[in-house]
Amino acid sequence: MARKKIALVGAGNIGGELAMLAAKRELGDVVLLDIPAKEGVAKGKALDIMQAGALDGFDAKVTGTSDYKQIKGADVVIVTAGIPRKPGMSRDDLLSINLGIMRSVAQNIKKNAPKALVIVISNPLDAMVYEMKKVTGFPRERVLGMAGALDSARFQCFIAEAAGVSVKAVNTLVLGGHGDTMVPCLSYCTVGGIPVTQLLDKRTLSSIIKRTRFGGGEIVELMGTSAYYAPAAGAISMAESYLKDQKRVIACAAYLEGEYGYKGIYLGVPVKIGAKGLEEVVQVKLSADEKKMLKSSANAVKELIKAGAKL
Ligand code: NAI
Ligand code: 2OP
Repeated sequence: MARKKIALVGAGNIGGELAMLAAKRELGDVVLLDIPAKEGVAKGKALDIMQAGALDGFDAKVTGTSDYKQIKGADVVIVTAGIPRKPGMSRDDLLSINLGIMRSVAQNIKKNAPKALVIVISNPLDAMVYEMKKVTGFPRERVLGMAGALDSARFQCFIAEAAGVSVKAVNTLVLGGHGDTMVPCLSYCTVGGIPVTQLLDKRTLSSIIKRTRFGGGEIVELMGTSAYYAPAAGAISMAESYLKDQKRVIACAAYLEGEYGYKGIYLGVPVKIGAKGLEEVVQVKLSADEKKMLKSSANAVKELIKAGAKL
């Protein structure tokens, strides 16, 4: 049986880490693609990872290129092409630059990897993944956005730290758009199965919710560019669930067709990911407060899509 093929469009910070994780977990062979001016970086990272494989003992062919023909037959394409946030920039400031990039990337994916599951990471996420679906015309089952996995992981880390427990004991769910209006759901946050509201006081929880919402900005301020280890880990968990038909339920941006009362937009919701890609948008009960916050997050996403449509 042939190995699976994972194409990574964008060989920058997240692209490099995605390549390393995919190769290390032996999910398949990896193609790292970037613009011609960065082909050397893509090729260099590919070689470096292959050589790490010799030390670490993993088998995966990793190649770098700027030629879309090399992604032919890819099972999964993960897109990080674009520019990341610089200090003082919001995700939405990136809209006009990254939208142009996304349109050309989407056309190339449509032409060269028409059967792939596409996972978009580039920001502003909810508008980029919307554009990807629009340009490729792929069904919603095969176009997902990575953000909820990352935002839920940040929430999980902060809760574990405050409760003084292992991160493995904590379960979290963050819904909505990947922006400051995201909705960390306290009603689905548990520590060893115990509702977090029984373990941490209101003040602590509200400061954790705030920190989660601005978790991306916190890292941009520290590093001068955006996060890459956790974003890559988030997308790899989605790709792995698809490639191995694990049917994990992962928060991610999905195209809604009436679920949660929304239609025709991408919004962060829990999704069962298996061999068919999006197999189910899992619908959970939300408190009145959470519904209200989700509505304002959906409105922010709609505004972003509207702004994108004018560009
Ligand atoms: P980076 O700048 O290190 O890498 C981006 C790469 O895309 C560069 O190598 C660039 O040459 C390449 N690129 C630009 N135009 C291209 C095109 N037309 N075709 C192929 N490649 C192209 O940026 P990084 O840190 O990897 O971030 C990538 C994106 O992911 C940014 O938009 C960032 O804001 C976003 N991001 C999203 C997160 C999420 O949760 N959804 C989390 C963190 C970052
Ligand atoms: C993040 O959340 C900036 O979207 C990026 O890290």
